[in-house]
Amino acid sequence: MPINSFFRSTFALCLLILSGALSADDSARADQRISLGFSDAEKAAFLSEMRQMLVSVQGVIAGIGAEDRSAIVQAARYSGNRMARDTPLSIKQKTPLAFKEIGAPTHMMFEELVVRAETDDMSELASLTGELMKQCVACHALFTVQ
Ligand code: HEC
Repeated sequence: MPINSFFRSTFALCLLILSGALSADDSARADQRISLGFSDAEKAAFLSEMRQMLVSVQGVIAGIGAEDRSAIVQAARYSGNRMARDTPLSIKQKTPLAFKEIGAPTHMMFEELVVRAETDDMSELASLTGELMKQCVACHALFTVQ
């Protein structure tokens, strides 16, 4: 076999193996989360709520660090029952029960933070925030808007 065509066929073989490995890898990494089937407008509204939740968590943690009870109350209140109430109806209608079972208690836990921020130790408020964030983690593991 001339040396040139030896290299060409070896190269081709390598590409073949590599592409096989890449596609196998792709299927292993395929997103297993459940799609919520939102329209573009619903996605935009929903993700905006999500970013607000992150702002709340940031404010709560900063408030705990500064031992500033009113900052904690203010930050937590944004993502409590008011947010639950303001969620567009079409989004509420599209979300399955498993989603609601994680989402509803999340808003309630922000309300719990509002109440307990008046009296609890900062370390207890930090623990509650840690518990609350398990809700974020659990839901993100299960659902996607993609
Ligand atoms: C009941 C379900 C649920 C809960 C609870 C939840 N999220 Fe989400 N969140 C989602 C879904 C679904 C997405 C979209 C993820 C995707 O499509 O990859 C998302 C996306 C986000 C995003 C990305 C926003 C963007 O603009 O892309 C942020 C930030 C976020 N969530 C923060 C939070 C925080 C912080 C909490 C907890 C305090 C939380 N979420 C709780 C379901 C939830």
